[in-house]
Amino acid sequence: MIEPVRASDKPYVIEVEAGECYFWCACGKSATQPFCDGSHKGTGFKPIKYNATESKKVSFCGCKQSATQPFCDGSHKNS
Ligand code: FES
Ligand code: FES
Repeated sequence: MIEPVRASDKPYVIEVEAGECYFWCACGKSATQPFCDGSHKGTGFKPIKYNATESKKVSFCGCKQSATQPFCDGSHKNS
């Protein structure tokens, strides 16, 4: 299993909109973090889809080590 790129040492806090669909970057290579820009091609990673059911702030994982992807679970503090 290849390791994802550590895009950030902390989460990206994003205001999401109810009814919108987001694709979280799992590979860490996207230039438009925390979302996928297609750069995962050939890495074996695929983006994770997130459907926002309400408008609110969401902490998306930037270190790509979270066990609760696409959300930050605090794992960025461990490494
Ligand atoms: Fe990282 Fe698509 S660019 S998953
Ligand atoms: Fe990845 Fe917090 S940024 S677990």
